[in-house]
Amino acid sequence: MNTGKVDVLLGLQWGDEGKGKVVDVLTPRYDVVARFQGGPNAGHTLEFEGQKYVLRSIPSGIFQGGKVNIIGNGVVLAPDLFMGEAKDLEKSGHPLKERLHISKKAHLIMPTHRILDRAYEAAKGKDKVGTTGKGIGPTYTDKISRNGLRVGDILCDFENKYAAHKERHMKMLAALGWTDFEGFEETEKLWMEGIDYMKEFKFVDSEIEVNHLLRENKHILCEGAQGTMLDVDFGSYPFVTSSNTICAGACTGLGIGPNKVGNVYGIMKAYCTRVGSGPFPTELFDETGKTIRDLGHEYGAVTGRERRCGWIDLVQLRYSVMVNGVTELIMMKSDVLDSFDTIKACVAYELPDGSETKDFPYEIDNIKPIYKEFPGWKKDMTKCKSQDEFPQAFRDYVAFLEDYLETRIGIISVGPDREQTIVL
Ligand code: GDP
Ligand code: IMO
Ligand code: MG
Repeated sequence: MNTGKVDVLLGLQWGDEGKGKVVDVLTPRYDVVARFQGGPNAGHTLEFEGQKYVLRSIPSGIFQGGKVNIIGNGVVLAPDLFMGEAKDLEKSGHPLKERLHISKKAHLIMPTHRILDRAYEAAKGKDKVGTTGKGIGPTYTDKISRNGLRVGDILCDFENKYAAHKERHMKMLAALGWTDFEGFEETEKLWMEGIDYMKEFKFVDSEIEVNHLLRENKHILCEGAQGTMLDVDFGSYPFVTSSNTICAGACTGLGIGPNKVGNVYGIMKAYCTRVGSGPFPTELFDETGKTIRDLGHEYGAVTGRERRCGWIDLVQLRYSVMVNGVTELIMMKSDVLDSFDTIKACVAYELPDGSETKDFPYEIDNIKPIYKEFPGWKKDMTKCKSQDEFPQAFRDYVAFLEDYLETRIGIISVGPDREQTIVL
């Protein structure tokens, strides 16, 4: 049977590529926007009409009136944080209750999951992942080990189920020797208020809803969180998040057959950033890295942490294009490089035995990036309205990226605002 398709938009680097901004820009082309994985570890920033919003669990299609937004089964939700985020949006004049549907199969992040997150990080010491502390790993662990608590459980004998899960977590924390429960009671109270607040929303069998919409030929945009290098299978393991951030995650996180996937939009910055621990081949520790951080305002949207900055890594990006089946690239934040005399791109890795490769290796903490240098374009592009205004040096850089990654760049973003987006 012929049905509509879902398009998937996802990050190709270590997250924070600008997914929220582009989802908002593309939403008018779609009937539905759906999140398929991750949770409040995400921070998706949108700017329009002089206002800035940061979304964590709520899809970025919520601002373009009248569209249905779905939180799919692959997402993990913290009721207290969800309530805070939703109430803030309602206060700023963006009503959600009719437009936001939540999968009954999405898992709940309990207050004890957040403590477990801290306890596991503390136990790892200097090898810690540098998580966002939102309980993501422990919640997905409970899901996979068949111990999770789901949104659908809210409707049936919830208090008893919650108490049993909490007791199990407390035993685990005792075994880890964890004693810091400061503020726990207040958090738990707010969390329970969040549970009551969530009941005002529509809980759905989102896999049935999504497939029904596809049969009606509706257009659905799936919004990824994090990035391919944080994928639990293909990222820089163990310094990753606990979900499949790649395109296949949209199938499992929403209940869509792979033959229903249409376009795969892969988002990348014109450079590269990472927050948290783990290898980062092109990281810059010098003034250039600092300049990128300052000009790009590279500080975490969720934790405020400094983002590590470096040059674009085409070996890494080629791998991301491959594992996601990217059909179109979107390049963000090229404006941050507007004033640079020269720009570098990593085009190969030198392995410890001295050989060179363009294939992303198993180990990336012992390789040396090999760079190609490009002349800077030295033009303020933040006011550009069309590609006709692009300087030649910038066109050459874009053409090189497209050629190396064997994929066309369809959108270039030249500033944080919705309007600063050039569709090629
Ligand atoms: P996400 O997690 O992928 O949605 O990205 P974040 O919101 O965490 O980080 C992207 C940051 O870059 C946000 O502060 C955006 O407002 C900002 N941003 C997005 N696109 C552009 C751009 O083209 N130029 C500049 N200068 N900033 C941008
Ligand atoms: P968005 O959707 C950037 C990183 C954390 C840490 C690792 C694991 O805004 O791009 P977790 O809390 O998920 O267990 O942390 O993943 N991380 C992100 N980095 N952007 C994100 O989301 C991230 N979500 C998690 O910093 O290194
Ligand atoms: Mg972010």
